[in-house]
Amino acid sequence: MSVSVLLPAAGSGERLGRGPKAFVEVGGKALLEYALEAFAWADEVLVALPPGHALPPRPGVRFLEGGKTRQQSVWRLLQAATADVVLVHDVARPFVVRAALERLLKAVAETGAATLAVPVPDTLVEDRDGAYGAVIPRERHRLVQTPQGFRRELLMEAHLEALREGRDFSDDAQMVLALGHPVALVEGDRRMFKLTYPEDLDLAEGLARAWNC
Ligand code: C5P
Repeated sequence: MSVSVLLPAAGSGERLGRGPKAFVEVGGKALLEYALEAFAWADEVLVALPPGHALPPRPGVRFLEGGKTRQQSVWRLLQAATADVVLVHDVARPFVVRAALERLLKAVAETGAATLAVPVPDTLVEDRDGAYGAVIPRERHRLVQTPQGFRRELLMEAHLEALREGRDFSDDAQMVLALGHPVALVEGDRRMFKLTYPEDLDLAEGLARAWNC
């Protein structure tokens, strides 16, 4: 099973407030570099960069210009991908746990579509304009992570359908599900969290010092 890794890295990083997230450094290393190292084993790696950004050539890696939304960036990468299976991974998750990746690849090989996900550790509640609302049963919910893996043809079909319908999704698993194809939930790892808010940088700096996964 050949694998293309798609890295949408074209976001502006507005909520983090440090410019494009791919170039934000943690432990002295850019977030994009973490992803390139974690997926160096793949048959090919395709990266969507913010418009106007270029990087020096690197063996096995292709840099493309990203689109206006995450979905558009992934679509551009997907059209250039050639392997049987694609893994889509947000560079905003620098810590890639090898064991989780292996679980994911196994599920993709078996089912054609899978994503990492973790349980919800806290009480999950509806926000009613600042007031405590209905509690949502956390046992029945998961927080979705990346990478997400799909048979390439299946993800192509899902993106084409979303384009036809003019819909924009926040992740690829939703698009495949919208096609009517089930997506397996595979046990992720909380260390694969997404750097989104400024305080996440402190967590990432701490983890970077201890990282050996
Ligand atoms: O903004 P958010 O954190 O949800 O973005 C998820 C991922 O999608 C990030 O890695 C970001 O760089 C990427 N992205 C992209 N092109 C965009 C917007 C986001 O590649 N236009």
